[in-house]
Amino acid sequence: MISYGGSSDPFFKGRHLITLQDFTKEEIDVMLDLARELKLKFYRGEPTPLLLYKVLFLIFFDESTRTRNSMQAGIAQLGGQGIFLTPDKMQIAHGESARDTAIILSRFGDGIGIRHCTFGVGNRYMRAIAANSRAPVMNLQDDYYHPFQVLADLMTIQERFGRDLKGLKVTISWAYAKSHLKPLSVPQSQILLFTRYGMEVTLAYPEKFDLMPEIVEQARKNAEDHGGKLNIVHDMDEAFKDADVVIPKNWGGFFVLGNAKELMEMDPAEAMKILKENEKVIWEETERYKNWIADERRMNLTKKHSIYMHALPADRGREVVDSVIDGPHSVVFDEAENRIHTAKAVMALLMGGRS
Ligand code: CP
Repeated sequence: MISYGGSSDPFFKGRHLITLQDFTKEEIDVMLDLARELKLKFYRGEPTPLLLYKVLFLIFFDESTRTRNSMQAGIAQLGGQGIFLTPDKMQIAHGESARDTAIILSRFGDGIGIRHCTFGVGNRYMRAIAANSRAPVMNLQDDYYHPFQVLADLMTIQERFGRDLKGLKVTISWAYAKSHLKPLSVPQSQILLFTRYGMEVTLAYPEKFDLMPEIVEQARKNAEDHGGKLNIVHDMDEAFKDADVVIPKNWGGFFVLGNAKELMEMDPAEAMKILKENEKVIWEETERYKNWIADERRMNLTKKHSIYMHALPADRGREVVDSVIDGPHSVVFDEAENRIHTAKAVMALLMGGRS
C-alpha cells in the first residue's frame, strides 16, 4: 500500500496543476515522497496499479521526448492508458474551442495533459481548458511554467544534497543557443520553486534577456516568505563562483525589444507578429553572447562537489561542452529519469488520490 506520507491533510484528487504555486510546500513534499516511493517500487519491480483503467489525454502542440514519454510510460505503469493527441489530428485544427475540447475529453477520460508553449497563448489556452474540464488538467509546459520539470529537478537536488536545502547555492543561468526562441517556463518555474525551499538562487543572464517581471516578483516574495534568496547578475562567471548547483540553459530573448509588459498584455497574435518582425534584432543580440557556455573553466569556479543540471535537450557545443555534460558533475540523466517518477506521483495524486 502506498502511503501519501506527511503530517498534513492534503487533498489532490481532481485538482489542476498549472503551476506549483497553486500547491502548498507541504503538498509538494507529498508529491516528492510519493515519487521516491514509486521510484523504489519501480526498481524492485513491484506493480503500482494506482490508476487502473484510468485514461489520460495528452495534447501536444509542441515536440517532446521526456515529457510525452514519461507521462505515457508512467500512466501505463500505473495501470491506466495515455492517449497521445496533436492538434493537427483534432478538430482544434478547424477552430474547435478550448471549452468544447475540454468538455468532451473530460467526459471521456480522467485527466488531460497539455503542452502549449506559444508565447502569449499557451498559458491562456491551458487555463481555458482547466476552466471547462471536469477532470484534472496538467501543464506539460506552457509559455509561463513547466511544473513537471521543476519537480524532477527538485527531487534530483534532494537526492544529492538531502531534504533540507536551506542555503544551498543554486545558479540558474542563461546560456547561448541557436535553434528557436525557447520558452521562459523552465527558469521561471525554477526560481519560483527553489526559493520556496530556502535556496540561495542566483539568476544570471545577459542584460535584456529578462524573465517575466511578475514571475521574478513572485519569486522574490517566495524567497522572503521561506528564507531563500534571489540575486540577479549579468555575469556568468560571477554566477558560477562557489555554486553548489548550476543550471545553465538557453531561453529566448522575448523581451530584448524592451517591451516586456506590453507584449504580455497585448493580443497574442499581435505580440507574435511583433516578435516575428523583430526576430533578426533578437538573434543579433543573442549572437553577442556566444561565450555564455558551460565549460570546464566555469565548472572549476563552482564548489568541488557541485552538480551540473539541464532539463534537456541540450544544445551541445553552444550551451555546454561535451566534457561538462558528460563529465563528473553532470546529473542530467538522473534528472531526466526523475521525470517519470515525479510524473507518476502527480498523476496518481490528481487522478486517483482521495478527495
Ligand atoms: N525537458 C523536457 O521537457 O523535455 P522534452 O521537451 O523532451 O519533453
